Amino acid sequence: MTGNRQELADLHSHLVPAVDDGARTVDGSLDGLGRMMAVGITRVATTPHALGSLTRDPVGFAKWIDEVDDQWAILERAAAASFPGLELQRGHEVMLDVPDPDLSDSRLHLGDTRYVLIEWPRLQIPPGTVPVLTRLVEAGVSPLIAHPERYAGLDRGLALVEEWRRVGARLQCNYGSLLGRYGPAPRTVVLRMLERGLVDCLSTDFHGRKHLKLFVREARDLFEEAEADEAWSILSGANPRRILDDEAPLAVPPVDMATSLWGRVRDLFRGA
Ligand SMILES: [Fe+2]
Repeated sequence: MTGNRQELADLHSHLVPAVDDGARTVDGSLDGLGRMMAVGITRVATTPHALGSLTRDPVGFAKWIDEVDDQWAILERAAAASFPGLELQRGHEVMLDVPDPDLSDSRLHLGDTRYVLIEWPRLQIPPGTVPVLTRLVEAGVSPLIAHPERYAGLDRGLALVEEWRRVGARLQCNYGSLLGRYGPAPRTVVLRMLERGLVDCLSTDFHGRKHLKLFVREARDLFEEAEADEAWSILSGANPRRILDDEAPLAVPPVDMATSLWGRVRDLFRGA
């Protein structure tokens, strides 16, 4: 499969040291980046957690982002020395704990783009997400919703997900969700989204700890079994790159992974 040789890009991880619940030290960050490169990722935008409410407090925001800037500078220097072949960029994962965050600071964006990776608190979908997304788009932001498959209470028909996309949001799902990392419900949702071509890109959401897995190789195997090479290469390579280049993601062909998973189970029972 061509995907084995393809250069991947990843735009959701927590590898700025000691600023959130991700990597604790720069050595931990470098270890994480090395592991990402070992599975073929050559471009990384790492995305510490940020609070939307803090963007409404100029003094608190300045103090906080100064700390992130300092840690980012340390990481950037260390990564350039250790991994000259890696393109490392920054962004944030902004939690929309208020409906009207100020996302104008370019450091909140993915690289130099209009895209901002966002999430909602406590993996619950608050009321009014569509008007919030609409306002962000009107303000010139391209919202990229992190791991939508992990939210409780998504409707089975994915009407809300379609509505998010209709108002201009894009969707990033986690590799680990495909492997049941977050339980059966997110796996069911991400498979259903893939069947309908509703996912724009896949990322690791890697938190830079030794015991955590990336799930990239395992996810690649699933796409291979589903004979979905084209979708894999768009979701893990072309589209995260396009987003980091401030371009619109490509349409992703539907992936029927549920059938291939079922096929595996059936084959097991047949003793194949
Ligand atoms: Fe995250």
